Amino acid sequence: MNKYELRAIITAGTLMAGFTFALLFSIFGQQIDVPTCVPYSGAFKKPHVKQLDGLTWEVYAVAHMWAFEPQDVTVPAGASVNIYLTSTDVVHGFDIVKKGVNLMAVPGAVGETTVKFDQPGVYEIVCHEYCGAGHQNMMGKINVK
Ligand code: CUA
Repeated sequence: MNKYELRAIITAGTLMAGFTFALLFSIFGQQIDVPTCVPYSGAFKKPHVKQLDGLTWEVYAVAHMWAFEPQDVTVPAGASVNIYLTSTDVVHGFDIVKKGVNLMAVPGAVGETTVKFDQPGVYEIVCHEYCGAGHQNMMGKINVK
């Protein structure tokens, strides 16, 4: 074996051992983990709907491959709904059909908007950002009664 080949092999092996050690040390020694994509706010630990007063509601929605949570929201006609939206994996879209709402669900960030639902009906939510194999099945709805 050529001496330069041997040096290249030893250098590459040393670097790989160093990187592996750094990785294992950060995981087990420093307890550093891959950051969770959900914002630190505890509000998103469990996606939920909250009534603030008679006609004001809050929705803490989480998008992930390939669904929205909560998937089904029911509010009375006339309700004003504050939507807070995030994602746990990749960028998703959040389009409330017939309401002109176009939000992006971005990991680590919160998108927010307020929508007033005066007319009863079913308002479909679709993901309008290609997010993988199940993109076309990613839907939710808001029932206004
Ligand atoms: Cu989520 Cu497309």
